[in-house]
Amino acid sequence: MGWHDAGLSFSGQETQVKRFLTLCAFTVYLIHSALAPAYAETLQGQGGMVSSRSDIASQVGADILAQGGNAIDAAVATAFALAVAYPSAGNLGGGGFMVVALADGTVTTQDNREVAPLAAHRDMFLDAQGNVDRRLALNSLQASGVPGSVAGLLDALERYGSMSRQEVLAPAIKLAREGFVLNEDLAGQFADNLAGFRQYPASLAVFSKNGEPYRAGELWQQPDLADTLQRISDEGRDGFYKGKTAELIVAEMQRGNGLITQEDLAGYEPVWREPIHGTYRGYDIWSMPPPSSGGVLLLEMLNMLEPYDLGAFGYGSAPTLHLMIEAQRRAYADRAEYLGDPDFVAVPVANLIDKQYALQRFADFDPERASDSNAIGAGNWAEESLETTHFSVVDAAGNAVSMTTTLNQGYGNRIVVTGAGFLLNNEMDDFSSKPDTPNSYGLIGRDANAIAPRKRMLSSMTPTIVMQNGKPILITGSPGGSTIINTVLQVVINVLDHGMEVEQAVASPRIHHQWLPDNVRYETGAMSDAVADELRAMGHKGLSGSGFGIGDANSIGLGNGVFTGASDPRSAGGVAGF
Ligand code: GLY
Repeated sequence: MGWHDAGLSFSGQETQVKRFLTLCAFTVYLIHSALAPAYAETLQGQGGMVSSRSDIASQVGADILAQGGNAIDAAVATAFALAVAYPSAGNLGGGGFMVVALADGTVTTQDNREVAPLAAHRDMFLDAQGNVDRRLALNSLQASGVPGSVAGLLDALERYGSMSRQEVLAPAIKLAREGFVLNEDLAGQFADNLAGFRQYPASLAVFSKNGEPYRAGELWQQPDLADTLQRISDEGRDGFYKGKTAELIVAEMQRGNGLITQEDLAGYEPVWREPIHGTYRGYDIWSMPPPSSGGVLLLEMLNMLEPYDLGAFGYGSAPTLHLMIEAQRRAYADRAEYLGDPDFVAVPVANLIDKQYALQRFADFDPERASDSNAIGAGNWAEESLETTHFSVVDAAGNAVSMTTTLNQGYGNRIVVTGAGFLLNNEMDDFSSKPDTPNSYGLIGRDANAIAPRKRMLSSMTPTIVMQNGKPILITGSPGGSTIINTVLQVVINVLDHGMEVEQAVASPRIHHQWLPDNVRYETGAMSDAVADELRAMGHKGLSGSGFGIGDANSIGLGNGVFTGASDPRSAGGVAGF
């Protein structure tokens, strides 16, 4: 299907040759698709469902649901279990965002993003020459923002949960105290990161056996983390932000020029924020507002794409990909200019998610040619890492939670708080340390995202719930740094435009473009070689295909009273439910 077939009046003529190429492209696409994992791990049920990066954590959440807990109880229990069973991104030392949709129709979001310590300042990561010191911004104690996860989870539980703090924390404490058997995935991750952990005795003690790598099949226990979780269970937020845990965090800071103080910890507060809400083809999209850029960009891109019949063009076709790339280019450029912590800068959210604005922003879209990002600046690609994790939960009553949480990079700054057993984040790199200078994800930022005390660094996390007639039909989100928003965009489009079931929507290969650097990256199978050539001929740059690895969208689809949990085949993980 070309532009004309979809009823759009564009100038190019679809020739017989082009039709032939399109047929070839589709054939090659089918071959590629056959090579990539076609479907996510799935489970169906009607009683409740959890899909997360860890089969152990998903089971913890599902057990809470089976005991009569609601989706919020299960989400909080899953998140604390991820802090034990998926230490790369499940965390006590980081932060995240959650979208909560209650069965009574209430939709709200919670921001438990880290904040910059009081001693942070705008130029703290610049060296004497005024360049960003990447080691300081990522691999130091100064890279850590004040953790928000614990305060956020406990607040969510108090507000919307039905179980006690002790009940939802008990499984995580047991897992940490008694340990669990390491699988290949986790043992491999620890081995891969061993060189980084060696720099810090407490990190080495947690993630190795006296300096030797753990092997799959061995029992892994975390007694210090169990004690920290027990203090949270006993004392609530004071068990983390005051008393012994706070003292251990501050002592760690003082050993290595970190900035976080007792005052920073005691002053941390999660914030409940109005969700980003918009519609796409009649469906309601609920997602995360600033300080995440996720919801705004998701809606902005969907608004740009809505006038075009992506379903008719088809998944993996040149017109669909060209449209998505051009929407991504424009939205990510807006991110750099306008997005930041709304408590510090005026973010023009209403303008950015306005359908009229999308039409105007897309007015220079040329169906035959790629636009040029390089007129504005340059960046570079980040290596894909294991950063961040997303999970989705639903209960029998129809309450739903979509939560994404992170230490920023995989294992954060790799520094375990001595005696407390958890890793610290390196989220300060999500600020724009210097205008128009890329961060570790190659993302450009400006004044709106400059560092300031108590400010929240801009995120790309995009926990999202799609609804029809007031009922959730899709709970989704992803890790992946700058790629997160595009992963969520494609899961939503795969379901709503391409009519895929959730497992295929999650598994299907993806593309990524983020304005700068002006490159299209795609997973094997996202397009055929012929379509890649067609896009190159239109002026798209990069077009480097690489294996399978953009995102990890652990999602749940809902229809006819049945929940389908889908665990992204790009990584280990699991769904649990009944
Ligand atoms: N640390 C990645 C993000 O929040 O977007």
